[in-house]
Amino acid sequence: YPVERIRNFSIIAHIDHGKSTLADRLLEITDTIPRDKSNKQVLDKLQVERERGITVKAQTASLIYNYKGEDYLLNLIDTPGHVDFNYEVSRSLAACQGVVLLVDANQGVQAQTVANFYMAFESNLVIIPVLNKIDLKGAQPDIVTQQMKTLFDIDPHTVHKISAKAGTGVEELLHTVIEDIPPPNGSREAVTRALLFDSTYDQYKGVVGYFSIIDGMLTKGNKITSYHNKKTYEIQDLGFMHPLEEPTNSLYAGQVGYIICNMRNAKEAQVGDTYYLQNTEVQPLPGFKAAKPMVFAGIYPSDQSEFNSLRNAIEKLTLNDASVSVHIDSSPALGQGFRLGYLGLLHMDVFSQRLEQEHNASVITSCPNVPYKIKIKGAKNIKKFTTDEITILNPCHLPDKQMIVEMSEPVVTGTILMPDDYIGDVTSLCLERRGEIIDQSYIDNKRIMIKLQLPLNEILIDFYDELKSLTSGYASFDYEDAGYKVSTLVKVDFLINNKAVDELSIICHTSRARVIAKNVCIKLTESIPKQLFTISVQGAVGGKILARQDIKALRKDVLAKCYGGDITRKEKLLKRQAEGKKKMRKIGKVEIPKDAFINALKR
Ligand code: GTP
Repeated sequence: YPVERIRNFSIIAHIDHGKSTLADRLLEITDTIPRDKSNKQVLDKLQVERERGITVKAQTASLIYNYKGEDYLLNLIDTPGHVDFNYEVSRSLAACQGVVLLVDANQGVQAQTVANFYMAFESNLVIIPVLNKIDLKGAQPDIVTQQMKTLFDIDPHTVHKISAKAGTGVEELLHTVIEDIPPPNGSREAVTRALLFDSTYDQYKGVVGYFSIIDGMLTKGNKITSYHNKKTYEIQDLGFMHPLEEPTNSLYAGQVGYIICNMRNAKEAQVGDTYYLQNTEVQPLPGFKAAKPMVFAGIYPSDQSEFNSLRNAIEKLTLNDASVSVHIDSSPALGQGFRLGYLGLLHMDVFSQRLEQEHNASVITSCPNVPYKIKIKGAKNIKKFTTDEITILNPCHLPDKQMIVEMSEPVVTGTILMPDDYIGDVTSLCLERRGEIIDQSYIDNKRIMIKLQLPLNEILIDFYDELKSLTSGYASFDYEDAGYKVSTLVKVDFLINNKAVDELSIICHTSRARVIAKNVCIKLTESIPKQLFTISVQGAVGGKILARQDIKALRKDVLAKCYGGDITRKEKLLKRQAEGKKKMRKIGKVEIPKDAFINALKR
């Protein structure tokens, strides 16, 4: 295909606005997959994605479509649809010249619509506005069109109205994609450059990289070098995604496809990296950032004998997801385990779920935390004012107070969209979480958009759930990294029967320490079952006890009522108890259920 007849585009949308459904229709119209109703979200391959209905890993397909007597090659680049993955979204967009901005005609513009719009807008992409789900009774096309006009200055006449489910208006949309989105502007004659925008791992083939060929061409046998890790690889296989891999001899400027090049480790395939032919000179493509984990949590096997199998499981999963960072960790209470770093909360959830599902690994996850930057007095000469900066990934590594000069925590810029009825409650929630409102404006006569700055630490556990429940599900939230901010922080430690449990330590703002200590103690007493003795739970800052709760002793033995009784009943009870124990951890003499750590931090 000559470059003039290539279009590279993405569909960007808030979660559940119908991106995968629209992708399925496009695949059908172009006969890439058979036209039958069983094609449910073909591009969402992984099991977790299906279960949660969330696209996690970008998947891509090349479609061939005849328009006005000519065949066009349309590369649909699927972007992941959640806040944690904004960086991946921006990299997928770097491979495109245009986007379809899909908005649910019933729900209207949501927080991710705003974030995605600006990402496309700042990359100078052509934006095709589309209202989806117009078949729904509650669809409000006029109001939503007005929102798009107010927020994005989109001309109402250019808005497509479609039903991705029924297929209405989808063919016309495809025509607009061809008419309005320009072909890629690379040149076949120029020195070869290719952008890696996604990758997966295959057990037999190793890393499969998804590339957009910006300039020049690539052929089987070519040696390509990565700009950022400087390693050179030989191309063993390459081709199109149609939607499955279809080998070809060469990929040319403007095309998008897969490349397999004996890369064994997914960490080498960095999204956003530029590849070029060995021994040539090129300018790297702009915008590269190494994936940066922002949420850390410990993962321990429920049973120490499962440490090796947990390690294997983590190794296998990180082959597919190189953005997770892994360090070995050990704790007196939980034994040997790992400290994993994730891009965000959803990422953590999805990864833990996959760990349990795909590898049958039973694990304990400790409470998540963010990285803190700490300026400490120079190690050599404490009197002289020299400082070193360290990053703390695990709250229990926080240095002594006397050593600390200054502490900073990561902050984010958040966007909240909601009906104006909830403004009071939502403002209180934001203030309680140390949020600072930057801007507030109406997007139509009922809905309001708030922009605010929030410490990442305050939205880590249940901010989103709270927001949803305060607004009966009507608010949407998105956030982006806004760097670090100086803050006064303390470490709260928790003791169970006077034994400190490192995994429970949290760093929080001074003003919140007492409330958090009390809440966590209460939650712990709720999630630790009564045992044969009294258990004390305490929260402390630097040895000073801020809160204490007791769990009273259990009165009867489980077996008490079976003495002399039916033996099978006794066995059954013991078995049930043993099963319960598998999910428990022992701290001192105390049995702690596996979810207690996470539950303890929920407010
Ligand atoms: P993520 O991948 O999680 O971001 O979601 P998505 O945007 O891909 O949404 P998806 O295609 O999974 O659709 C979400 C829900 O909306 C599904 O239940 C679809 O069946 C439904 N849906 C999608 N398009 C339409 C439509 O045009 N009309 C109606 N009535 N329902 C639709």
